[in-house]
Amino acid sequence: MIIAETISEVRKQVKEWKQQGLTVGLVPTMGFLHEGHASLVDRAVSMCDRVVASDFVNPTQFGPNEDLATYPRDFEHDCKLLEEHGCSMVFHPAVSEMYAPDAATYVEILNDMPKQLCGKTRPIHFRGVCTVVSKLFNIVTPDRAFFGQKDAQQLSIIRKMVRDMSYDIEVVGCPIVREPDGLAKSSRNTYLSPEERQAALILSGAVALGRQMAEDGEKDAGAIVEAMKEKIGTEPMAVIDYVEAVNLDTLEPVSRMEGSVLVAMAVYIGKTRLIDNFIAESGEAGQAGA
Ligand code: PAF
Repeated sequence: MIIAETISEVRKQVKEWKQQGLTVGLVPTMGFLHEGHASLVDRAVSMCDRVVASDFVNPTQFGPNEDLATYPRDFEHDCKLLEEHGCSMVFHPAVSEMYAPDAATYVEILNDMPKQLCGKTRPIHFRGVCTVVSKLFNIVTPDRAFFGQKDAQQLSIIRKMVRDMSYDIEVVGCPIVREPDGLAKSSRNTYLSPEERQAALILSGAVALGRQMAEDGEKDAGAIVEAMKEKIGTEPMAVIDYVEAVNLDTLEPVSRMEGSVLVAMAVYIGKTRLIDNFIAESGEAGQAGA
């Protein structure tokens, strides 16, 4: 596996692959990789001739009081995992390679999508995500890019950015990967103490409850959200940031479970903010997110 630290190394290699007629997949990550990321790489390997993973903790998507400084990192372990899963190249740039000191250009969606859900408490987050993903698209020029459904708002926003900016890239959404007990895999799970790790199961428990209600035909989105909040309320260590039902494509709040509905949540367990979600599909409208 090639380890590239500069934009020019990536461009040179991708150019060679493209001259050979090979297709290229991109798996953008912030490192500290787990089986969720591995599943993205596996999917990319199954659909593309060469796979590039980026491993870059992107400072522009962290707010001033967020965990940029402490975000977990283990590049050696990341390389091992990526190589084992058939990744062809990892792009591991320094911050200065991605952002010149005088960088002043951002990619930002100006409708309400980045203001919903996580955007309510993370106002600059999706501007940073769109900017770095757009840069990665320009650097790697992939045929396909792979994102996890766990960050469902991010996935919907990236699909929108790709449409709006006419990127010739297929965005592939991949299902949430869970621990055997249900907890969605996340690099931030590493922050949890054993007691918090146990308490965190309330998120997947609430997802299971909401999903079951939707499958049983509950059409009142508010009833599903309330039942999920009530369940989360039974865990003393959990503090709800939000539980909401929104249209999967527009992220606008919905009152009825019709079309493609994303039911998403962010919950604090101690100091750690965790997210989880499910998508309910009904009728003919909408597109599957995964
Ligand atoms: O999902 C992530 O890990 C990040 O938001 C991404 C897409 C790699 C951009 O930094």
